[in-house]
Amino acid sequence: MNSFILILILSITLSVCFGQISPAIMCFNDPSIIAIGSTCNSTGDSCILNSYCSGSPTGTCTKSLLKGDTCTSNNQCSPYQCVGSICGNNHFSIAGQGCQSDSDCWASPIPGQEALLTCSSNVCSLIANKQCQSPSDCKFNENCVTKSGVNSCVATSGINGACTNRYDCNVNLVCSYQFDNSTSKTCQTPWSKKLNEKCDNSVDAQRIPFFYDCDIGSNLYCGSQGKCVTNTPSGSCSQCSNTTACKGYSDSCICNNNNIPKNTINADKVGICVPEVFIDSACKSTFGDLIQCCANNSCPMNQQLLFNQGSCAFKNCNQYVCKMSNCFRATGAYNMLNLAQTACGSTYSLPKDYTKDCPFQLPKQTDKPNDSSSMIPSIFFAIFFVVTMIILS
Ligand SMILES: *[C@@H]1O[C@H](CO)[C@@H](O)[C@H](O)[C@H]1NC(C)=O
Ligand SMILES: *[C@@H]1O[C@H](CO)[C@@H](O)[C@H](O)[C@H]1NC(C)=O
Ligand SMILES: *[C@@H]1O[C@H](CO)[C@@H](O)[C@H](O)[C@H]1NC(C)=O
Ligand SMILES: *[C@@H]1O[C@H](CO)[C@@H](O)[C@H](O)[C@H]1NC(C)=O
Repeated sequence: MNSFILILILSITLSVCFGQISPAIMCFNDPSIIAIGSTCNSTGDSCILNSYCSGSPTGTCTKSLLKGDTCTSNNQCSPYQCVGSICGNNHFSIAGQGCQSDSDCWASPIPGQEALLTCSSNVCSLIANKQCQSPSDCKFNENCVTKSGVNSCVATSGINGACTNRYDCNVNLVCSYQFDNSTSKTCQTPWSKKLNEKCDNSVDAQRIPFFYDCDIGSNLYCGSQGKCVTNTPSGSCSQCSNTTACKGYSDSCICNNNNIPKNTINADKVGICVPEVFIDSACKSTFGDLIQCCANNSCPMNQQLLFNQGSCAFKNCNQYVCKMSNCFRATGAYNMLNLAQTACGSTYSLPKDYTKDCPFQLPKQTDKPNDSSSMIPSIFFAIFFVVTMIILS
C-alpha cells in the first residue's frame, strides 16, 4: 500500500530528472511485468507472480521457491523472505506480540537500520538500552515519542485526546481538528469532516490512503487550504503531459502505450490521468470494517504488516485486507502486489490497464521538447492540411 506514496515520489523524481531533458512531456510507465524465462531488468521490470529476477542489472525471470523450501537469499523466496534458510514470513509481530525467534519481530524495512526488537520468552520486546524508532517498536496503541532528545513508548490517546499525528491516537482514530475554530489537533473519528470543514492536510508517509478526516464516502478529501473539498477526477482517457495537469485527487499521469511501439521513450508519448486511490462509499465501508476489525483484535495498522500472512491484521482481518484491492490502482512496487496476491489469492484483483481503451495519441506539436526526434505530428498535420484543402477547394 506504499505504492501510492512510491508512485508520488517516483513521479516527482522523474519530473525533476526529466525536467532537464524535456520539460513539456512527462508521463510515466508502470513496471513491465515479465514472464518466467524472459529477460528482466532488476530495476525497471517486475517478474510475474511466483517468480523473481535472477541476475543484476539484467537477468531472467525465474520461478520462486515455495514457502517452506530451503533457500540462500531473500530474492529466491519472493514474495516471501529467506528466514533461517527456509522461505517464509518474518518481521510480523510488533512489541508485545508473540514470537518464536527474533526474525518474527518487527524490523524496519529500510536497509541498514538495525533491528530493535528481540524475541524474549516468546514475546517481542525492545532490546535493553535501545530506544524505539517507530510505533512498531512499541506495543499496540503506543507511539514512539521523542522528549528531550530521548525516544520512548507512550500510550496513544482516545477520542478528543491531544495529538500531533495519527500515531498519537488509538488505532481507529485520526488526528484532526474537532471544530473549525480548533487551533490544535485531537484524536477524532475518521471521515467525520464535511464539505468546507477544517481538516488536517499534513503529509504522512505511512498514512494508509483513506485514513482521513474528510468524508471519503461523500467524495471529499483534504485540500491544500486545509478544508474538505470535493474530488473532481479527470474523465477517463483525459490527456496529460504531467501529473499536475490532472485534476482528480491522487491522479497520476500514466503513459498511454496503446499502439505505441515498445521502444518509444516516455518523452515521446502522451499520458492519461489515472487515479491511484478511489474514494467512494464502497471503499469507505471496506476500510471502516478493516479499521474496526483491527481495533477489535488489537492489531496495529501498519502498511508493511497488512499483507504479511504472519501478522495480526492479516490473520484476523484478511477478508477486509484483501478487499482493499478494489480501492487502489495498486502497482509500482510490484513485489508488494505479488505479496498481496500470494496472501489473498484470487480475491486480490490486479490493476487494470487503463490505457487499453484510450485512443492512440501522439504528443501535440506545442508540447514537444525542442528537438526533431519525431516528425510524425508534422506529417499528420501535413496530411490533415492537405485533406482539408482538398475538401475546401
Ligand atoms: C533497466 O531499466 C531502467 C528503467 O527502465 C533503465 O534506465 C536501465 O537502463 C535498464 N538497465 C538495463 C541494464 O537494461
Ligand atoms: C468552537 O465551535 C464549537 C462548535 O461550533 C462551539 O461549541 C465552541 O463554543 C466554539 N469555541 C470557541 C472558543 O469559539
Ligand atoms: C504540466 O502541464 C500543464 C498543463 O499542460 C502545463 O501548464 C505545465 O507547464 C506543466 N508543468 C511542467 C512542469 O511541465
Ligand atoms: C467489532 O466488534 C464489535 C463488538 O464486539 C462487533 O459488533 C463488530 O461486528 C466487530 N467488527 C468487526 C469488523 O470485526
